[in-house]
Order: sequence, then C-alpha cells, then structure tokens
Amino acid sequence: MKAIFKRTSLLLMGALIGISTVQAQKSPQDMDRFIDALMKKMTVEEKIGQLNLPVTGDITTGQAKSSDVAAKIEKGLVGGLFNLKGVDRILEVQKLAVEKSRLGIPLLFGMDVIHGYETIFPIPLGLSCTWDMAAIEKSARIAAIEASADGISWTFSPMVDISRDPRWGRVSEGSGEDPFLGGAIAQAMVYGYQGANLQDQLRRNDEIMACVKHFALYGAGEAGRDYNTVDMSRNRMFNEFMYPYEAAVEAGVGSVMASFNEIDGIPATGNKWLLSDLLRGQWGFEGFVVTDFTGIAEMIEHGVGDLQTVSALALNAGVDMDMVSEGFVGTLMKSIKEGKVRMGTLNTACRRILEAKYKLGLFDNPYKYCDVNRPKRDIFTKEHRDAARKIASESFVLLKNAPLAAQKNAAPVLPLKKQGTVAVIGPLGNTRSNMPGTWSVAARLNDYPSLYEGLKEMMAGKVNITYAKGSNLIGDAAYEERATMFGRSLNRDNRTDQELLDEALKVAAGADVIVAALGESSEMSGESSSRTELGLPDVQHTLLEALLKTGKPVVLTLFTGRPLTLNWEQEHVPAILNVWFGGSEAAYAIGDVLFGDVNPSGKLTMTFPKNVGQIPLFYNHKNTGRPLAEGKWFEKFRSNYLDVDNEPLYPFGYGLSYTNFQYSDIALSTPTLGKDGSVTAVVTVTNTGKYDGAEVVQLYIRDLVGSITRPVRELKGFNKIFLRAGESKTVSFTITRDLLRFYDYDMNYVAEPGDFNIMIGGNSQTVKTAKLTLK
Ligand code: NOJ
Repeated sequence: MKAIFKRTSLLLMGALIGISTVQAQKSPQDMDRFIDALMKKMTVEEKIGQLNLPVTGDITTGQAKSSDVAAKIEKGLVGGLFNLKGVDRILEVQKLAVEKSRLGIPLLFGMDVIHGYETIFPIPLGLSCTWDMAAIEKSARIAAIEASADGISWTFSPMVDISRDPRWGRVSEGSGEDPFLGGAIAQAMVYGYQGANLQDQLRRNDEIMACVKHFALYGAGEAGRDYNTVDMSRNRMFNEFMYPYEAAVEAGVGSVMASFNEIDGIPATGNKWLLSDLLRGQWGFEGFVVTDFTGIAEMIEHGVGDLQTVSALALNAGVDMDMVSEGFVGTLMKSIKEGKVRMGTLNTACRRILEAKYKLGLFDNPYKYCDVNRPKRDIFTKEHRDAARKIASESFVLLKNAPLAAQKNAAPVLPLKKQGTVAVIGPLGNTRSNMPGTWSVAARLNDYPSLYEGLKEMMAGKVNITYAKGSNLIGDAAYEERATMFGRSLNRDNRTDQELLDEALKVAAGADVIVAALGESSEMSGESSSRTELGLPDVQHTLLEALLKTGKPVVLTLFTGRPLTLNWEQEHVPAILNVWFGGSEAAYAIGDVLFGDVNPSGKLTMTFPKNVGQIPLFYNHKNTGRPLAEGKWFEKFRSNYLDVDNEPLYPFGYGLSYTNFQYSDIALSTPTLGKDGSVTAVVTVTNTGKYDGAEVVQLYIRDLVGSITRPVRELKGFNKIFLRAGESKTVSFTITRDLLRFYDYDMNYVAEPGDFNIMIGGNSQTVKTAKLTLK
C-alpha cells in the first residue's frame, strides 16, 4: 500500500511551539565525515557499547535490573538509557557520558511516551476513534514538546500493531483493526514527534525521534495471549497487517522496535528477512532497530540458542541496539573473535546509532534537551491541557442513546440538563490514578481529577453532583490486585458487596440521573493484560442491574481499553458512552459530552463482538464459499454458529451523535476507470437533527472478482466534516488505480481489471453503494 495521507500542516500549531534551537543545515557528507572520524577513534568495546540500552532502574516493565550503570557509562559501554524521568537527573547522567567517558559520546534518552507526557491524551485506541489526523499529530507534537523539555530525545511510539483480538490487552495501545487508518495515524504521529523529517537534520530541541513498534505482527498472537506465537501467510501479512509499519518508515521514522513474537518460526528479533530484507531492502529504512526489552535473551526461551548465539543472530539479522538483555555487551566481542559476527556488521550497527545521535543534534550540543528552565514553561501548560480536553472529547464513542423505556417518545437520555442532582456511581467514578490509562509512564497520577471531582468542579452552582462507589472493581480481590498495578489501585473497599450496594442505592434515590462509571481499570488493558472474558466484571454488573431497577435514567459511562461484550447493556441501559481512558483531562471532557457542550463524534476503530466466541471478528473479512444470505442469522451448512449470529454488536466505524446525518446516493464522475485516470465519488451529507456535530464520512471498496479472494469491504478513505444543524455538505473521494491495488498470490502489488463496489457511509455496515469498473 502506498501512503495516501500527507502531513497536516504544522504551521497550524505554530502557537504551540516553545523554545527552538535550529541546528545548522548539514549535508549527509558532513555527517559521514564526522562519524568516520569518530569511529576511527573507537575501540571495538566502545562500538559495542553504543549498541547497549541497559535498564536504568526505576522502570515500569520487565524483570531485569542492572546496577552500576554509571560505571558502564564512564567506560563507554552504554549507548542510551530509557524511562528515566526528570531533566535534572538526565542532565547529570548526560554529563557522565560527555565529561567522563573517553570519547564523550552523548547518550540517547528514550521513554515510553505513548499518549502524552504529563499532559495525557486518550489511550491510542481512543485517539484513533477521533479519525482526526490533525488532532492526533497535535497530540504527538505536544507530547514531544513536553518530553523534550524534560530531557527525553526518543519515544517508543507509535505502536501500530493491527489487532483483531480484543482479548489482547495491548489493543489499547494501537489504532484498532484497520491498516489503512492505522497507516494514516502512524504517519501523523511520526510527523508530530519528529517534526521535520530526521533526514533534514534540522531537529529542533522540542522535536524527538520516534520509534515505530512492534515490528512485526505483534497484534496477531494466538488466542489474544500476550507474547504468544504468530503464524500467518505472507499474503495476509502484506494485505492486512504490514502497511502501518511501512507508512511510518515512509514518514521517516528514526527507529524501529522489533517485536517479541516469532514470524515464520524465527523470532522477529533474529529474523533477517524481516529486519534486513524487507525493512531496509524493500522499504528503504535508514534508521536503527532496537529490540523490545529482553527480546534478545528471550530467544533462549524461544529455543533458538544460548545468549551468545542469539545475540549474534540478532545483530546479523539487523538489530542495532540491545534493550536490557546486555547480550551484545556480554558476548559480541567473543563472537567477533570466533568469526560468528563480522566487524563490518558491528560497524554498521554502531554507525546507525551514531547517525541517530548526529541527526538529533546531540554532537553539536549534547545538552540540547537538558534546558532546566523548560519544564516549568513547557510541561502541563494550560494550552496543552486545553488541547487534551478537546481531543479527549472527540475520542468518546456514543454507543447508544435512547429515551427511558417507560417514556418511549421522550427525548434520549443524553445530553443531560445542567440542573438537579446527578449521582456518579461506580468503582471508576472517583479514581484519579485510573484516568490517564495504561502506558502513561510520566503521568502525575494523583494530579488529575477523578470523574466525580471534575464534574463537581465544572457544574458548581448548577448541578448537584453526588457519589458512591457502589462496588469494587471485581469480586475476586486477587484478580483486582492483578488488574490495578503500577500505582493504579482502586483502593479496595472492605465493606461487603451488599453494604456498597445499599449506599449506592441511597445516593441514587436522591438523584435525577445516574452516571454509572463502570468498566475496566486502566491496567486491565495494556501490556500483559490479556482477558478471556470481556463482560463487565461480576459485581459491577450486579450494581448496574440494581441502578436500572430504580427506574431513573442511567448513563453507562464506560471506561475500557478494549472492546467489551455488552449485549445485556445494549438491551437494558438507555445510554452508553464509551470514554476509553481519556487522559489527564478526561473528567472535564466527559462532562463536556454528558452535558452537551460537545456533541460526540468518535467512531469505533475496532469491532465490538457479541461474545468472546466470535473472536476474531473484524469488518474486512473474506466472504467464504458459504456466506450467510443477507438477513439470515443461521442456515445449516453455511458459515455461522448455532448459538449466535455472525454480526458484531457494534461494527467498525460505528458511533452515534446527538444529531443525525443523512447520506445521499453516491455520484461517480464516471462509472469506468482507465489505466491512469481517476474517478470522484461524491455524496451529500445532511445534518438532519437539532445539534451541530461532526461526522466521519467513510469510503469502503470491495473488489468483486479477483485472482485471489478479496475482503467484503476495505476502508479506502475518510473525511471528518462538521455540519451545523440543518446544513449539508458534499464530500468527495478521489479513486485512482493505486487505491485498488493489493498483493496477489505471487506478491505482486496489482490492481486487477473488473468490477468494484464503492461504498460510502457513516460506519462500515450502513453505506450507499455504487458500481465502478476498472478497465
Ligand atoms: C516492553 C514493551 O513491549 C514496549 O512496548 C516498550 O516500549 C518497552 N517494554 C520499553 O518499556
């Protein structure tokens, strides 16, 4: 696939830009000369040292802890450190490298800045539901400004792993199930972090290097279990999973992280086809490859050799930097002596790390990211927080909005009126530390308002906001503990379930509306948080049932890092607003949407199944030879289940608004497309409701007959528009031959003549259709 989206203008963000020291323009020859001269002075040991990214201590994931890092830095045995927070500490460590090591080579300081630094944006899955590339780029831009102000020059983001399995907790960190959208987001994020392309060598001190991860296919682990085996055909890889990585490379991403999983039986970390032939050979990647954490040492457990063997395997495959394993510093010297690794291979890897440092401008000024005056000025500013609040409110997906069952013709429950008493009830209702969501390493966990606190503050003098916890997160205390690690405790309540429920019902009795804050804790998704049951946890379900029995309007305000199974909720709860984990400003953003100051416009980027047995369930599936006839949910000897239909609960692209949008039929500029031309597909979208609102207009295409089987539909374009109540706008998509290409059986990237269905609509299932013929 070729990138369709080009960068949104950073000029729009001029106001956001803080301090900027622009490096003098340098030619690639200047860089080569500089690095040649430096490498001439380096010992073999020092070259290996550049490839070493040891644990700093104080880290959030993993098992290993290495001590005496300082001594290693002084000996030139460290290339960078990661997840160290605070510009003062980073300055101190950088000084060790620059002033105490023989050659004074500066260190890279990396961090998992995944969805913001201290100003936290929605978890990436939520962010993707905005379908707003400018907003996503802006979130990365702000993250770069804040992280760089605190000494960080490198982020381990974007995570672009396509996943179709919500059992996998890390779906929260990615952009959902679609490669086209995922590719666009990957590019927006790379541009946001890196600003001008690294190759331009104009890196400002508020732009940082990005790292696309996890290369490759990490989201396709069997049974949704983290770190599990992956096995897929090349055809599926290239048609359905690889594009977002390629798009990031095309956008100039400076580094790539290898994934934990195997590919075709060889762990990605030691897979030469993946890291060299494809990534560098075919895609032209020029940056460096880092392992994911102990990826090298883990190859021992994969069963491909001892530490020396797997370290050599990794380097020879194309890995340049060893995160945590210390397999390179520990064994490469020996492997070189024994002829298992060539000096030239080491030199290439070392050069790539030095080039990254050069392009960041660290040789010009190793303290470029160590301006101790910046944090105060650039981190968690009002401007950044305002942007985060707006973007968070765009990420929420309104899953249902109906009147109370007893008042069929009344208005839907949302938006709420700014009057009376609103009770916030549920274990997610008053927890500060769970607001930012998983993978927020630099978050100030206790400084962000909980939902209850935020609503109270916003509605002071207008709405009386009350609160009760109502239940613990999960009945099983041990499960709750596993699901609330890293300072995200929900402070388990020792009262009995009944006592908690009684209190909640008392609070509910005094309220006009109940906002039920239920779902997952932030650490129920993310790394190593796979689940096999995806319903609301037991005690929360009991609470919700009891709240509904009061007969009062209940808004399920759903916190989650993944699609959940919500059949019962869809049937019984009048309004469901999925708020994911919205970040530092989530409470205010939720208030903005609940009380109608913002009309929700988020659209799902991952299918919500009806039950776990349907998984993997995704919108761009193949038809099979025995599809169900339209309108049927079961037929004997057809591809279906006895106990549930094939349909999702909420399809890809789905999301409601407080208003309604009507689509006209599609007008094609011509029904046939020649070799070089293009066709425009135009629809008119009308806001037929009473509220102004935004709509994500989606283009899907189906190739009706192919030399290999083709998906029933694939996203090929989208456009987010804003319409005032009553307003109409025309939206047009340009369809070229390029948009119709796919990898055929022989892995040629082709567009085959024939008929195509062109579909446009507000989600992947409700579309208008027109026919196009490719000559
Ligand atoms: C392991 C995770 O898989 C990866 O995403 C992260 O960047 C590294 N740890 C570093 O924290």
